[in-house]
Amino acid sequence: MQHLIDTDDLTDVQIEAILNDAARFKRRRPPALLRDKLLITLFFEPSTRTRSSFEVAAKRLGAAVVHLDPSRSSTKKGESLEDTFANLCAMEPDGVIVRHSRNETPRELAAMKMVPVINAGAGNYAHPSQALLDLFTMKEYFGDLRGKKIAIVGDIVNSRVASSGIRLFTRMGMEVKLVAPEPFMPQSDLPKYEHLEAVLDDVDVVMSLRAQLERHSKPIFDDYGAYAKHYCIDKARLGARDILLLHPGPVMRNIDISDEMLSDPRCKVLEQVRNGVFVRMAILKLLLLDS
Ligand code: CP
Repeated sequence: MQHLIDTDDLTDVQIEAILNDAARFKRRRPPALLRDKLLITLFFEPSTRTRSSFEVAAKRLGAAVVHLDPSRSSTKKGESLEDTFANLCAMEPDGVIVRHSRNETPRELAAMKMVPVINAGAGNYAHPSQALLDLFTMKEYFGDLRGKKIAIVGDIVNSRVASSGIRLFTRMGMEVKLVAPEPFMPQSDLPKYEHLEAVLDDVDVVMSLRAQLERHSKPIFDDYGAYAKHYCIDKARLGARDILLLHPGPVMRNIDISDEMLSDPRCKVLEQVRNGVFVRMAILKLLLLDS
């Protein structure tokens, strides 16, 4: 039984297969490969992109999808997460796609060995489908990513997108630089910078991140306008540099990225979302059909 808790669960061959399948699905929509499959989505945290993207991906491949809304489920009557999961598995789905605030939850559910578990975002630990779609978006633009340099900018310490991305991008031979004010900087052996200006002449990609306010136990900055003066990706700061601009969403406009840059051709935020469906189709094919 193959799970996807983080991209470390995938071999190089499997990652290559996901990227190739996603590219093929983007060129031409495939037949209903998962016609007889049923997936359950179980999101204990809000989501716009990941949940709908997995559901669209599953439906594009002919699978049925059932969503359980935890805020209206029997977890509200005290049923444990493990019992909730076991009861869903008793209905014999082919996979459960789970998002949770705890880093360990997807791996603990996978350890119950009931159905394939797909991590749709866990705490600040991992968001593997986001890392794969970011990889796909960069590969589509650059081809070979070996030696390419990416600056990850913003609330890195609280970001599961950054955690998974750092593991995957370095594995793929990219150089990762971290740019953040001290409270947002994780412990890491990677090169660290406080100022964006120190890296902009030496990177191919900038990935901007939102301040993960929901994970801050107390306010870190009183004024995100002041933060934006140093970290917002705007046209004045980026100039004419040939840099690919990524953001996993949701974007805090004019704090993470300016309105003007969001409509600049170098900004691939909506292309990331578009690619996310093809990448998640490829992930579902790998886990439910090929493994
Ligand atoms: N990128 C991402 O995880 O977005 P959502 O929280 O909307 O799913």
